[in-house]
Amino acid sequence: MSVSGSTLLAGVMGWPISHSLSPLLHGYWLREHNIDGVYVPLPVAPSNLEHGLRALPRVGFRGVNLTVPHKEAALSMMDTVSDVARRIGAINTVFVSDDGSLSGTNTDAHGFIENLRLNAPTWQKNGGAAVVLGAGGAARAVVAALIDAQVSEVFLLNRTVEKAEQLAQAIGGPIKVVNWDDRDEAIGNAMLLVNATTLGMVNQPKLEVSLSALPKMAIVNDLVYAPLETELLRTARQMGMQTVDGLGMLLHQAVPGFEGWFGKRPDVTDGLRNVVLKTT
Ligand code: ATR
Repeated sequence: MSVSGSTLLAGVMGWPISHSLSPLLHGYWLREHNIDGVYVPLPVAPSNLEHGLRALPRVGFRGVNLTVPHKEAALSMMDTVSDVARRIGAINTVFVSDDGSLSGTNTDAHGFIENLRLNAPTWQKNGGAAVVLGAGGAARAVVAALIDAQVSEVFLLNRTVEKAEQLAQAIGGPIKVVNWDDRDEAIGNAMLLVNATTLGMVNQPKLEVSLSALPKMAIVNDLVYAPLETELLRTARQMGMQTVDGLGMLLHQAVPGFEGWFGKRPDVTDGLRNVVLKTT
């Protein structure tokens, strides 16, 4: 790789930043499309976030992704914020405009719905409600995406019920909060079940849920991608249900940023999946 004065610059700000998979996947697309650009990890402490963001236009960056712990704090540091980012309450993608102003958006809802559409094209034809487990940052993006896709109803369950209630309030629309302990029965309502908790991830507790009430036509999507086939997905597959893994959302959420910074809409291919999978 050689860089010059015309090389397009983008990156990801986080603290710490070494765990981020974003340099790997953007680097893959830059090579695939032979683009004169670089995407670098930027270790930025929370106390330096505003300075770091304001420096972007001054040092010629096209923009950045934001990761933990910056996504919420950055909301008040942008010149413009997209509606979806405001509803989700977090920014993961920043674009530097020609006049040097910063616009922030959140591409997680796009990533979630795009992955679902491509991997389970029939998901809306079945009609019916969605059941979402979790009320953290990922769940907010999922619920916003489902409401925007005009799902008839979202049943939302979270261990801490107050967080589910706050989420429902912030996103608005047909969202019904159900107690976490009632999840085995609540699932009977679902044509789509989404696990947006961290349960089932490596080194995390198991997701304790019975799928016996879930309609056989239902689609099960786990946002956890390490392991790629979680126990939830394995059980659903063994019961004959269609399953969607969590890696696709991670890859699809990166597409709008890459297109905005580097001028080419990249594809999420098996080649990219395999490269990312080798590191997870
Ligand atoms: P993310 O950004 O990935 O959404 P998060 O904001 O930390 O991560 O959210 C983690 C989610 O997993 C939350 O819904 C959390 O439930 P609480 O809001 O009650 O904390 C859920 N979660 C984590 N550990 C859990 C556990 N042991 N039992 C039930 N839910 C759990």
